[in-house]
Amino acid sequence: MTKGNEPTKADFVVVANRLPVDLERMEDGTQRWKHSPGGLVTALEPFLRARHGAWVGWPGVADVEVDPFADGDMWLHPVRLSAAEFREYYEGFSNATLWPLYHDVVVPPVFDRSWWDTYQRVNQRFAEAAAEVSAEGATVWIQDYQLQLVPAMLRELRPDLRIGFFLHIPFPPVELFMQLPWRTEIVRGLLGADLVGFHRPGGAQNFMWLARRLAGFEPSRAQVGVRSRPGVVQVGDRAVRVGAFPISIASGELDQLARTKEVQQRAKAIRAELGNPRRIMLGVDRLDYTKGIDVRLNAMYELLSEGHATVEDVAMIQVATPSRERVEHYKQMREDIERKVGSINGEFGRVGHPAVHYLHTSVDRKDLIAFYCAADVMIVTPVRDGMNLVCKEYVACRGDLGGSLVLSEFAGAAAELTSALLVNPHDLDGVKDTMLAALNLDQAEGRRRMRALRRQVLTHDVDRWARSFLEALGASPTS
Ligand code: ADP
Ligand code: G6P
Repeated sequence: MTKGNEPTKADFVVVANRLPVDLERMEDGTQRWKHSPGGLVTALEPFLRARHGAWVGWPGVADVEVDPFADGDMWLHPVRLSAAEFREYYEGFSNATLWPLYHDVVVPPVFDRSWWDTYQRVNQRFAEAAAEVSAEGATVWIQDYQLQLVPAMLRELRPDLRIGFFLHIPFPPVELFMQLPWRTEIVRGLLGADLVGFHRPGGAQNFMWLARRLAGFEPSRAQVGVRSRPGVVQVGDRAVRVGAFPISIASGELDQLARTKEVQQRAKAIRAELGNPRRIMLGVDRLDYTKGIDVRLNAMYELLSEGHATVEDVAMIQVATPSRERVEHYKQMREDIERKVGSINGEFGRVGHPAVHYLHTSVDRKDLIAFYCAADVMIVTPVRDGMNLVCKEYVACRGDLGGSLVLSEFAGAAAELTSALLVNPHDLDGVKDTMLAALNLDQAEGRRRMRALRRQVLTHDVDRWARSFLEALGASPTS
């Protein structure tokens, strides 16, 4: 892969909006790289490292020019975004148009023509960067909603490449997708790939319906299976496969880390710092309006006010990574959440016992695992989520079979984690009752559920996800 310190052309290339590391500018003018947020990076980074591939992506800061560099066995190829492109392509079209539209219009999407122009221009730049770093006949794996035009653009530039695309967020119902003024262009952009992957068969099925309705191509009729029986859309002389590949985590590695003495001691220390309450409830999310953080806070409020829980008995921790902080709905949501935390603590908190321990920060990996190990109840209540890796991480960390998982039916993971305590996040009574049931769950019942959850998560790890996708793409998963 390397020739001295110079990157050579790569046989396996990941293209994603973000690099796995973000450039951070410190107050004293120095710079450092830190781990990028979100599930896409969590899932793909260990896989690509093992494969010595190249990663094309944005370094997380506008208006910086960074040369390609090696990070361990992986080459990183930064793509530059100007401040205006950051606003219109990233904050605008990606996160104020596509993100809410694809998440069931939880907040109203904004349709802005100049954002669309910038989205096209930036997608073209990513396609050119991918074309530049890919060796003859290479496999290029394009990721997520920010880059849906890249498959067709890249095929135009480099017809020799094998091109895969995976969508990490839900693909919406067709009636919602049809709202998008640029719906046909997006569908045609995706059809530039040899394989288009979604988390769930329903997303694949919706996409195939749209390929016929909007682009006039004939899709296969058989039901798409999970990791099997991909559908096919015939595009001229190319057969584009369309499949469902539920993403996962490096579960074996997390399981091992969670068993280390260091993590176990840290978990004990967390419990002690909280005053050894009978139960610890935990939420870990990017601070995003799709995650239903308000839902669990409202349920907690009612549990406290109805006397089902006291702050001495139950400690709730919410760790929230800052995310997309200048986008209007994110600003509003942060204010709402923080006001709610403040009012719950004001009403129920005691000296040394706040009702909700709220950390607006990203925590490092070992600390995060220690939080998972310390938590008796993990609360994951998104109103819509493509998969949700946090719930899988929790399960992977509970080799002791302790802890219980309250999980929204509207997370992609609910289809696999059927032994979780499943809730409808729109049903406040249901969430509250289930949280209470989780707090008082019989130990044998909890262990039975956790054992079943672990069987699923440990046998379906991220490596299996990537292999099944690459096999369906016809690319060797190991070369
Ligand atoms: P999304 O990709 O929408 O953020 P996922 O649940 O799929 O949601 O993935 C989130 C990833 O980010 C997980 O790997 C999780 O551990 C990590 N993460 C979320 N919140 C934090 C936090 N506060 N500190 C550290 N890591 C976090
Ligand atoms: C989700 C998306 C990713 C994104 C991540 C973090 O996981 O699917 O594409 O990278 O959130 O969001 P951000 O906007 O900070 O990249």
